[in-house]
Amino acid sequence: MTFHVNGETRQVAASPTHTLLEVLREELDLTGTKHGCELGHCGACTVLVDGEPVLSCLTLAVEAQGAAITTVEGLASDNTLHPLQQAFAERGAAQCGYCTPGFLVSGAALLARETSPTREDIKAALAGNLCRCTGYTKIIEAVELAAERMREEARTGE
Ligand code: FES
Ligand code: FES
Repeated sequence: MTFHVNGETRQVAASPTHTLLEVLREELDLTGTKHGCELGHCGACTVLVDGEPVLSCLTLAVEAQGAAITTVEGLASDNTLHPLQQAFAERGAAQCGYCTPGFLVSGAALLARETSPTREDIKAALAGNLCRCTGYTKIIEAVELAAERMREEARTGE
């Protein structure tokens, strides 16, 4: 199978019954995406497929061939963290960190389509991601901070 992951084309030999989560972690060594419930409940396995958040535990890898896949490893560019990654670090939005890759990709998808998300927009975008540690407030604040910085960046062209 051929995949377009984080801007690279990668070929792997994998069973047609393997999920995208299995192929990403076990064949492509992209272990940032987490195994959680594998039932579609927790969001730890979220990746972007053509910019849309997808649960990789419920997606067959064959279905994602030809699409642009982005995992948490693909959010940073040129050794610079995505503004949301930076905001998570500054706001203390990750504790054990197991849920964090899923929140980051879901949040990044929101910020790519909505420059001024309301708190309700953020809650809706992250509704499929569960966190047992943070109580969610710092995660929401981190998304708000990243949105503010991205708007400022767009305004000043920096
Ligand atoms: S591991 Fe996919 S939703 Fe929990
Ligand atoms: S930081 Fe531990 S589950 Fe979210």
